[in-house]
Amino acid sequence: MRLIYRICLGLLLSFRFLTKAGYRSEIFYGSKYAGDYHQRASFTTMNRYPGLFSICKDFFNDKPTLRILSFGCSTGEEVESLSHYFPEAEILGTDINKRSLRVARSRYGNRQKHFVHSLSAEFNETGNFDIVFCCAVLQSTANRTTADNQVSDWPFHQFESAIVSLDQKLSDGGLLVIDHCDFRFTDTCVAAKYEALPVEHNPITRDRPTYNTLNQKISDLSENDRVFVKRTKQD
Ligand SMILES: C[S@@+](CC[C@H](N)C(=O)[O-])C[C@H]1O[C@@H](n2cnc3c(N)ncnc32)[C@H](O)[C@@H]1O
Repeated sequence: MRLIYRICLGLLLSFRFLTKAGYRSEIFYGSKYAGDYHQRASFTTMNRYPGLFSICKDFFNDKPTLRILSFGCSTGEEVESLSHYFPEAEILGTDINKRSLRVARSRYGNRQKHFVHSLSAEFNETGNFDIVFCCAVLQSTANRTTADNQVSDWPFHQFESAIVSLDQKLSDGGLLVIDHCDFRFTDTCVAAKYEALPVEHNPITRDRPTYNTLNQKISDLSENDRVFVKRTKQD
């Protein structure tokens, strides 16, 4: 029975590889940038987080000159969705998968919406964002799909260093939005600079495992805040 399952799975993945350019790119760039990659799957969709987008819009109360970062933007639907909530904002999407970026640029790139590679000098040098979105990026699919995965498939230190670099790009008083993670933002070394925004669904409970700083599973559920305000120097 197990052998039949494996053969069927192998055939399915081979078919996917041959017919889906997006899947091929996940494998190609996943191996090219192995040490820097977080979530490999590039699934995304238009207006995926309406609740989170609305919370941010209300927080900034239509302030016109916002700079927004979508980290792990995939093929650009998150950036495009954000442009409907923030028509005046400058929005930057970044991803590690170059094929996804090419698709994003061709579908949505214009004077308002830019896309750059996350390991480029250009991205390294940019900053001063008012909102940073990092949704469904800092996780590994295996942690949710492997039965009883007691040790995280990718390490806490990679999660924390990604969060530290996003913190450096966010202005004081700005919003950090993180959703669908394997670890807790509150376990990172920058968490003390932030406070959770007291809004509905913050925190939210999800049916997915949570891991600690030692990469050990501590719960089959996650109960995390998703929207954090970065304290200003006066706070
Ligand atoms: C599941 S998609 C999430 C897309 C979108 N944020 C959403 O929630 O709909 C995860 C994306 O993270 C990207 N990613 C993985 N590691 C990354 C890294 N180091 N820098 C930037 N993007 C990365 C992947 O290429 C993929 O496009």
